[in-house]
Amino acid sequence: YMSRTFSIIKPDATRRNLTGAINAVIEAAGLRIVAQRRIKLTQAQAETFYGVHSERSFFGELVAQMTSEPVVVQVLEADNAVPKYREVMGATNPENAAEGTIRKLFALNVGENSVHGSDSDENAALEIAQFFAEEEIVG
Ligand code: CMP
Repeated sequence: YMSRTFSIIKPDATRRNLTGAINAVIEAAGLRIVAQRRIKLTQAQAETFYGVHSERSFFGELVAQMTSEPVVVQVLEADNAVPKYREVMGATNPENAAEGTIRKLFALNVGENSVHGSDSDENAALEIAQFFAEEEIVG
C-alpha cells in the first residue's frame, strides 16, 4: 500500500552540503519526496519532536545538535514507506549500518547520523502533522 514517512536531513548533513546527495539516495530507492522545507528548528520544536527521548541521557545533546544548523524536513511516499526508508537510512549507529545506506555513506557518529526517519505509520502521521499542512503535501 502507498504510505508516507517523515524524514529529517540533520544539521551534520546540511552543514556539509549533503542535501542533494542524500535526496539522490532517497529517490534512487524509489521513495518520492512529496513535501520538503529547509528550516532552523527552535529549541521548543526539537524538544517536542524528540519528547519520547526526554528522559534519555543524550536528550540535551540531541536537542543541541538538532538546533545547531538548519535541517530539511520532508515527507516521503512509497509502497511501505516507513520500513523502506528505515532500510535506506541504515542502522542508527553508522558503525552498524549496511553498505550503501545513507548512514553508512554519510553519518559521522550515532548523534550526528545525518537523517531521521519515522519508526511506525502512527508516528509518521504525528511527525508529518508537526511540520506540514495537508495542502503542502503534493503526491
Ligand atoms: P533519530 O532517528 O533522530 O532518533 C533519536 C536520535 O537520538 C537518534 O536518531 C540518534 O541520532 C540519537 N541518539 C541515539 N542514541 C544516542 C546516543 N547514545 N548519543 C547521542 N545521540 C543518540
